[in-house]
Amino acid sequence: MEYNRPEPIQLIHKLRADRSLTKDEWIALIANRTPDLAEYLFSLAREERELYYGRDIYIRGLIEFTNYCRNDCLYCGIRKSNPHAVRYRLTPDAVLSCCRTGYELGFRTFVLQGGEDGYYTDDKLAPLIRHIKELYPDCAITLSVGERSYDSYRLLFDAGADRYLLRHETYNAGHYSRLHPPSLTAAARQKCLWDLRSIGYQVGTGFMVGSPYQTPEHLAEDMLFIKELNPQMVGIGPFISHRRTPFADKESGTLELTLFMLALLRLMLPKVLLPATTALGTIDPCGRELGILAGANVVMPNLSPTEVRKDYLLYDNKICTGDEAAECVSSLKERIESIGCRIVTARGDSLNY
Ligand code: 5AD
Repeated sequence: MEYNRPEPIQLIHKLRADRSLTKDEWIALIANRTPDLAEYLFSLAREERELYYGRDIYIRGLIEFTNYCRNDCLYCGIRKSNPHAVRYRLTPDAVLSCCRTGYELGFRTFVLQGGEDGYYTDDKLAPLIRHIKELYPDCAITLSVGERSYDSYRLLFDAGADRYLLRHETYNAGHYSRLHPPSLTAAARQKCLWDLRSIGYQVGTGFMVGSPYQTPEHLAEDMLFIKELNPQMVGIGPFISHRRTPFADKESGTLELTLFMLALLRLMLPKVLLPATTALGTIDPCGRELGILAGANVVMPNLSPTEVRKDYLLYDNKICTGDEAAECVSSLKERIESIGCRIVTARGDSLNY
């Protein structure tokens, strides 16, 4: 007989009290989860969110401004060796026009996301950032353009970028190397995140849930890393296979585990910003509402020009024409209100520092 092995529910209470668990405890909690336990965890996660953010849900306008990418991540539909990807790049003027539309719709954060596109050097990005800041000084600019040098991050920050999203994808170096080409390493990715922090960005990291070869131990390591980094935002979503990648036949991650991880993140870092991601909305029609009910408090509707949305295909069936579209913010509002929350027009800076 083994004594002293804590029940999962005790681990949840320990997590709420200490805001952390040991690696073995994370593994035990993740591996032994049950539907009842999850429901209870979600109720605690909602309580935590309400303590700091009330029932406010922040919106970010996502501008996917280029799908050219120098990298060859095995899971990603816009990897460089996918010849079927229809490539596009918005001009700075087109990006500005997305911002104008977004501002009128009530967005006060613009997320400029793209592949690692060699065209968008600092010389092109910095003036664009300055221009957006000049026109919309009350808005936050979030960049999500992958790995760059310390000096480049610094320059873009000085140009006016406030936040940076760069998922660590998976903390474990061995696991990382099974998802990425040899040119990319877990260590380099993590160094970027520490650089971004030290420069003063509000930093968002995150990982895919149910990526190929992922184990509860990897997820435990992700939680420990996130605790240490203490970012302002954490974006997670299920891995979803893309038919033109080496992972075409790999199983996708589940709604169930993604919601469980979201709620654990909310208990670990109660003040962090947690988006209910597009991937979550793609694997389940109610994915984003369920994410909010598990502790998320951000949604990122798509502000890209309609004609390019279908080409920013990171995974199969990515939603882009329904209520996740920025122009449908009014029906998004209704959906959020139906679960007792409300969309707010505010920059929505993180309380986690
Ligand atoms: N399934 C789910 N998420 C993916 N991403 C890339 N490809 C996929 C996929 N097939 C995520 C990565 C990346 C973010 C922009 O999108 O985590 O950091």
